[in-house]
Amino acid sequence: MSSPRKIGTVYNFQQLPDVAKFPFIIKNRKRNLLIQKGLFVYTQSREGYLIGSIDKIIILNEYFSDALTIKSYEENNNPNILKGFFPSDDFEYAIAIVNCFGIIEFSEKEKVKIKKINRMTYPATPGADVYVVEQSILNEFIGFNTEYGLNLGNVKVTRCPAMVNMNRLLNKHFSILSISGGGKSYLTSVLLEELLMRERGTPSIILIDVHGEYSYLSEISELKDKIHVEDTTYFQIATSKLSAWSFKKYQRKLSYVQVRELSQYIQELKKDEDKQGKYDLTDLITLIEEDPEGNKSTKQALIGWLMELNRLHLFGGMENPNLNNILRSGELLIFSLENEINIRKKQIIVDYLCNRLFFMRRLNKIPPFLLIIEESHQFCPEAAESKAISKSIIETIAREGRKFMACLSLISQRPKKLSTTALSQMNSKLILNIKNPYDLKHLMDSSEAVTKEYADMISSLGVGEMLLMGNAVNYPIFISVRERLFKSPSENNSLTQTCLDWEKKAINMDD
Ligand SMILES: Nc1ncnc2c1ncn2[C@@H]1O[C@H](COP(=O)(O)OP(=O)(O)OP(=O)(O)O)[C@@H](O)[C@H]1O
Ligand SMILES: [Mg+2]
Repeated sequence: MSSPRKIGTVYNFQQLPDVAKFPFIIKNRKRNLLIQKGLFVYTQSREGYLIGSIDKIIILNEYFSDALTIKSYEENNNPNILKGFFPSDDFEYAIAIVNCFGIIEFSEKEKVKIKKINRMTYPATPGADVYVVEQSILNEFIGFNTEYGLNLGNVKVTRCPAMVNMNRLLNKHFSILSISGGGKSYLTSVLLEELLMRERGTPSIILIDVHGEYSYLSEISELKDKIHVEDTTYFQIATSKLSAWSFKKYQRKLSYVQVRELSQYIQELKKDEDKQGKYDLTDLITLIEEDPEGNKSTKQALIGWLMELNRLHLFGGMENPNLNNILRSGELLIFSLENEINIRKKQIIVDYLCNRLFFMRRLNKIPPFLLIIEESHQFCPEAAESKAISKSIIETIAREGRKFMACLSLISQRPKKLSTTALSQMNSKLILNIKNPYDLKHLMDSSEAVTKEYADMISSLGVGEMLLMGNAVNYPIFISVRERLFKSPSENNSLTQTCLDWEKKAINMDD
C-alpha cells in the first residue's frame, strides 16, 4: 500500500475545530492542485480515523488584512508598492475547512476495509496531519461496488469511477430531476447502457418513452438483441381484464348505479361460452344495447360513456403486446408514446401498464422489474384538482413496489408538479441542474437530505454534472456523468442542420 499523502496540518481558526468541522493549513498550496472543494480527507483524531470532505478554501495574507494600510498605499500613486516592496507573496497561505462525516472503524477482513462508521463526539487535534483518503477506502465509504457497479461517470474532484451499486440503487425507487436540457435523458441512456451490458442478475426494464428518444438503442448491434420497442399506436388493452371500477377510473362521471349495472353486464359476458373470456368494448356495448330489460336511461348513459371510450381505439379482445411473456430479465422494453397526442389516452395506457405489471409482479409471474417513466409529472402530477388517471397506481407502486422488487424511476423536469407522495418515496435522487426556486423548495420539502446548501449547489451544476444522494450511496456525492457509448442520431442535430435538411426535403417535394 502506498504511503498516505499529507496535504496539511490541523490548526485553530475561528472557534474551530469543533465536533463537526476542522480547519487545516494547506501544505504547498501552489503545487497542490488536487486540493479543491469536495476532496475527501482524513486526520487521526483522539477517536480514530476522522473522515470528511473539504467544504471551503480560504486564502489569507496578513499583508492585505488591514484595510487602512492598503488604502494608504493605494493612494500613494504606486498601487503595486505593497506587492513589490514587501515579500507579500511569501505570506500568503490557504486554509481549508473540512466537514466531518464520521470515524471509520476498520475491519480485520482482507477484502473489506471498513467495519463501520461511528459518529464523532470529539474534535480533531490541532497539529495533527491531514491526508487524502485512499481510493479503496473512499469507494467503500461512499458505498460503490467497484467490481459489478454501474459506471455512471467519475466522482468530481477525486475523479475515481462512480461505480454505483445496482442493488442499492434499484432496491428502492429513484428519481432523475433537472431543468429541461439538463441531461436527464442522456443520463438515463448511460444507465440503460450499463444495465444492458451486465452479464446477469439484472431486472427486466420497462421504459415509458414519451418522445421516442430511446428507440435508437434498438438499432445498436451490441444491444439490439436485448431491446424491444413497442409503438403504442398498436397498443391494445384486454377489455376482459377490466372491472367496472376500472371503467369508472377512465370515465369519472359514471354514477355508482351505472357502475353496478356495468358490473352485471361484464359478469354476463365473462360467462358467455362463445366468447371464452375474450371480448372487446364493442361486444360490451352490443350486449347492453340488446338487453331487453334494465333501466333505459341507465343503459343509454352507459352506452354513451363506453362509445366515447371506444373512440380511443384502445380496448380490444386481447392484450397487445402480451405482457405475460414479453418481459425478460436483463432486457429492455420501450413503450414509445411518440405518436400519441391525446394526454388522456397516454394516461390510460400508462395506468393499464402499471396496473398489469404490478399485479403480475405480485404473483411472481414476471421477473423483478425497473419501470422508468419519462415526463412523469404528466402521469403523476401533484395538483389536487388534477385527475390524472395513472396517478393512483404510480403512487401505489412508489409506496409498495419495493416489497415485490418492482422498482420505479420517475424522470421529471418539473419536480414541483410531481406528486409529493411519489417523490418522497424516491429514495435515491439523481439531481442535475435545477434553477427554479419553487422546484428546489419542493425538493427540499420532499427530502430532508436536500439541505439549503445542496440546493445552492444544485442550481450551479453544469451540463452532465449530477448530485447523487439517498439509498444508492452513503453520502451525497457529485458525479460527472460519463459520455454515452452509443450516440443518439439526434444528439448532434443543430438548428441550422435541421433547417438545411428541411429545405432539402422541401425541394424534393416540389420536384
Ligand atoms: N453527460 C453529458 N455529456 C455530454 N453531453 C451531455 C451530457 N448530458 C447532457 N448532455 C447534452 O445536453 C443535451 C440535453 O440533454 P437531455 O436531452 O438529456 O436533456 P433532458 O434533461 O432530458 O431535457 P428534457 O427535459 O427537455 O427532456 C444532450 O443532447 C447532450 O448534448
Ligand atoms: Mg429528456
